[in-house]
Amino acid sequence: MTGTTVSIHGMWSTRLAFILAAAGSAVGLGNIWRFPYTAGEYGGGAFVLIYLLCVAGIGIPIMMAEVLLGRRGRQSPINTMRALAEREGKTPAWSLLGWMGILAGFLILSFYSVIAGWTLAYVLRAAGGAFAGIDGAGSKALFDGLVGDGERLLAWHTIFMVLTVMVVARGVASGLERSVRWMMPALFVLLVVMVVYAAWAGDLGAAARYLFAPDFARLQDKAGEAVLSAMGQAFFSLSLGMGAIMVYGSYLRRDASIARSAVMIAATDTLVALLAGLAIFPIVFAHGLEPGSGPGLIFVTLPIAFGEIPGGGLFGTLFFTLLVFAAWTSSISILEPVVAWLVENRGFTRVRASILGGAGAWLLGIACLLSLNLWSGYTLFGKGVLDLFDYLTANVLLPLGGILIAVFAGWVLPRSATLDELGGQDGVAYRSWRFLVRYVAPMAVTLVLLNGLGLFKAMGLG
Ligand code: PHE
Repeated sequence: MTGTTVSIHGMWSTRLAFILAAAGSAVGLGNIWRFPYTAGEYGGGAFVLIYLLCVAGIGIPIMMAEVLLGRRGRQSPINTMRALAEREGKTPAWSLLGWMGILAGFLILSFYSVIAGWTLAYVLRAAGGAFAGIDGAGSKALFDGLVGDGERLLAWHTIFMVLTVMVVARGVASGLERSVRWMMPALFVLLVVMVVYAAWAGDLGAAARYLFAPDFARLQDKAGEAVLSAMGQAFFSLSLGMGAIMVYGSYLRRDASIARSAVMIAATDTLVALLAGLAIFPIVFAHGLEPGSGPGLIFVTLPIAFGEIPGGGLFGTLFFTLLVFAAWTSSISILEPVVAWLVENRGFTRVRASILGGAGAWLLGIACLLSLNLWSGYTLFGKGVLDLFDYLTANVLLPLGGILIAVFAGWVLPRSATLDELGGQDGVAYRSWRFLVRYVAPMAVTLVLLNGLGLFKAMGLG
């Protein structure tokens, strides 16, 4: 059924709605929680620079490819890939790309919802004055108290999953589009307020130097790992490689420009990540706290500052509310591909499909949250379930999906097809895009993956 002009699931009402939704997918915990602490772990500026290169050289071309495939297929990623491949006389096994995306989606949503649960809990804590006068040990104890309490984690995880299912169950127009229309502007306003506040209450200069002055010496022997993390962060943050952007593209009208949309979405995502850094690190530095403290960065470090600064209770509440919005507009996009597939292939109503998909991710999420407490003794490659899912999706599955998307758009689809989708202008822009998806992206991602996973070293080449 390729070439249809609308999707059976509905359509975005305007191009702006698509951009808001896709930016809503992209902007999430990845930007505000994951990006600052990962940048912190690799020492700041050098990591940020590599990250920006990954976004521009790999992320944007792959995002264009993903939107393009979705819009041409107009179905869930599994069926889109099968239909597009069959139409070119290629093996229907390309639908495996869609299946891999569904797997990645379940893994991501399971831990995503647990972390989003922390942010819900922290909205309440901030509003209730729990940070007032707290010191480093106190803040750590507060965080450990939450993370160590499986039942409390389960309650918040459940609430967040219900919120996600509620939006997706309402459908493309009155669920997804309606929620991003108010949450995205609200998120942006809150973020700007937070940066202004951080500049006033913290050390903006130190934060800017930390983020924007690359010091490659800090990467040293961890360079391969740092590059893999930066690339994984780019895939995760831009929502690429698992079908979220593809399914959103399937609801986009024919006349909208894919290139311009992708650039705007990626630019918004990057801007938000950098602004998040500028909201967090000034406070971290002004209080002599540790930027490389890992996943606890915003949950342990920031509350100390919020507890000390005038207005900290209010701004703490705003900050964690912002995070909830960011996470919510992302989680709906992680659930959408599997819901679209259940509706297409199993004849489910959207409501049933959403509940079933959400329930699956919810169950997996229980394993994630137990890995933080009761199961903390069980690890694989030194990681508990939550960390393992996070690492495996961002650094392996999403990049693999990205390679396949690039190869499909660059090598399987005929030139005329992609040229047509991208506006029909056979100029420098189109040719650069095609060169990037045919050669640069697949090769760069493969090399970074192999190198970062230590395969070259294992073969004695490193
Ligand atoms: N991009 C989201 C974030 O930054 C996470 C996400 C990953 C969403 C993959 C959809 C698909 O938090």
